[in-house]
Amino acid sequence: MEKKLSKIANHTNIFLKNFFLKQKKSDLIFPMRYGIFPGGKKIRSKIIIDIGSIFNIKYKNLIQVAAAVECIHAYSLIHDDLPCMDNDNLRRGKLSTHKKYGESTAILAGNSLLTIAFEILSDDNLKINSSSKIKLMNSISKCAGHSGIAGGQYLDLSFEKKNVSTKKIKIMQVKKTGMLFSFCCMAPVIISNKLNHVKKFKDIGEKIGLLFQIVDDLIDLKGSSKKAGKKTKKDMKKGKATLIKALGYKNTIDYRDKLKLNILNKIDQFGNKSDNLKETINYIVSRSK
Ligand code: IPE
Ligand code: IPE
Ligand code: MG
Ligand code: MG
Ligand code: MG
Repeated sequence: MEKKLSKIANHTNIFLKNFFLKQKKSDLIFPMRYGIFPGGKKIRSKIIIDIGSIFNIKYKNLIQVAAAVECIHAYSLIHDDLPCMDNDNLRRGKLSTHKKYGESTAILAGNSLLTIAFEILSDDNLKINSSSKIKLMNSISKCAGHSGIAGGQYLDLSFEKKNVSTKKIKIMQVKKTGMLFSFCCMAPVIISNKLNHVKKFKDIGEKIGLLFQIVDDLIDLKGSSKKAGKKTKKDMKKGKATLIKALGYKNTIDYRDKLKLNILNKIDQFGNKSDNLKETINYIVSRSK
C-alpha cells in the first residue's frame, strides 16, 4: 500500500509541478508551493485512482482530477491552521504556511490554491468531454463551499467547548472532511457518464471521509506528533467536538470498526475490481499519520 500511495503521490506532484511552472510569475506562487509541496499522503488521490480503475478511466485524467483535489485540500489545511481557526504552527513536518509567510499571505495563497483547482479542471489538456468537466466543477464547488468543507469548518469552530450530540458531530465531520472524499468517489463515475451510480458513490465517499476524520481524531489523542507531522493532543485542550469526546474512547473505536465493515460490505459488490479500494480503507484505519 505504501508503495502504491507514494507512486500516486509522485505522479500527482509531477502534474502539479508542471502546472505551476506554466503559471505566470507571481509572489504568491511561493507560499502556494510551500503549502502544497512536498505534500501529504495523497490519500484522496489514491481513492480517485482506485475508483477510476473500477470504471476503466484513463490514469492520466484521474491524476489531473486528483491534482485539483489536492489543491483544494492544501488550501483547506492552510486556512485550518490559521490563528483564527485551529492556530497550529506545524503542518506536514514543517512550519504552517502562516508561520512561514504571515497570515494575510497564507489566506491569499489558500484562496489561490482553491481557484487553481478550477483552472486545472477546466484546462484544455484535460481530455474528457466538456459536459463531464462542467459536472465535475459543479460537484467540487458544492463539496468545497458552504455545504462542504467551509460549512463543516464553520460548524467545527462553533461547536468548540460545547456539548454537541453525536448526530451533529457526524454532520459536521461529513461536511468538513467527508464531502471532498465524496467528490473523489464521484469524479470517476461522472467521467464515465454512469450518472445513475453517482449517488451511491457520493454516500460511500461521505462514509470514507467520516471514517478518515474519526481516525484523525484518534491520532490526535494517541498518536505521535513526529509521525503525524503536526501537533497532537490538541483537540481536547481546544474543546473540539469529536466522537471521542461524545462517546468515549472505547465506543469510538467500536463505531470506527463498524463503519469500516459497513463500507467494506458496500464495496463488495464490485468484486475483485474493488481490491485496491479495500486496501485503502484498511490503510485509513491502521495508519499512524
Ligand atoms: C488532514 O488530512 C486533515 C483532515 C481532513 C483530517 P490528511 O491527513 O489527508 O493530510 P495530509 O494531506 O496527509 O497532510
Ligand atoms: C481539518 O480537521 C479538516 C479540514 C477540512 C481541513 P482537523 O482540524 O482535525 O485537521 P488537522 O488535524 O488539523 O489536520
Ligand atoms: Mg480543524
Ligand atoms: Mg486542525
Ligand atoms: Mg485533527
